[in-house]
Amino acid sequence: MAPCTGTTVYMLISMMIFITMVGCSEPKQRMKETKMVLYLQDWEFGKNSTAVPVAGINGRFANVLNFTTVSVVDDALTEGLDRNSKEVGRAQGIYVNSALDGTNLHLIFSAIFTNGNYKGSTLEFQGADRRNLKYREVSVVSGTGVFRFARGYATLETVFVDDSGYDAVVRFNATVRHS
Ligand SMILES: *[C@@H]1O[C@H](CO)[C@@H](O)[C@H](O)[C@H]1NC(C)=O
Ligand SMILES: *[C@@H]1O[C@H](CO)[C@@H](O)[C@H](O)[C@H]1NC(C)=O
Ligand SMILES: *[C@@H]1O[C@H](CO)[C@@H](O)[C@H](O)[C@H]1NC(C)=O
Repeated sequence: MAPCTGTTVYMLISMMIFITMVGCSEPKQRMKETKMVLYLQDWEFGKNSTAVPVAGINGRFANVLNFTTVSVVDDALTEGLDRNSKEVGRAQGIYVNSALDGTNLHLIFSAIFTNGNYKGSTLEFQGADRRNLKYREVSVVSGTGVFRFARGYATLETVFVDDSGYDAVVRFNATVRHS
């Protein structure tokens, strides 16, 4: 093997610097950050229920608070706590009670925006909704429309529960970075 001469080393270093410079000259795509507050209207009982348990462990009453229950949801996402406040979209997907002691709802849903600034776009939420905690955090894993390449998180807080203990309104404070 030929000995490594000073010239060869110099050429290699120059090439490396050149490659680094080319790499840096690419325009960096800046991610935007959007914060939003959404109220998830999760109504399992009564008039116009939008969250329905569809399956549970064999032979047991499928109850959202019990391990193994799968619920399908089409919950309104509103601007305010009031069920009749302006609807900005729908949360469509599922909750799976995935804790043996019933304390965790694994949620996977699409927030489908139908009104306002984000109309026509979607965000994908997924995570552990440990319903006994005052504050929980779930992930925003992707999005479409204005939220392409989205990544982020949402802090969840149950801001209303009715006497049945099932119907609830959950506030989602979401922070999302997207292209
Ligand atoms: C339930 O649905 C009916 C008929 O669509 C509607 O008139 C009523 O306002 C709804 N109630 C609530 C609480 O959303
Ligand atoms: C279902 O959940 C309710 C409310 O948390 C609880 O009282 C009950 O024991 C649970 N049942 C089963 C079979 O886990
Ligand atoms: C969520 O946002 C609301 C409205 O801006 C605010 O009052 C509340 O403190 C926030 N909650 C969390 C956990 O950040």
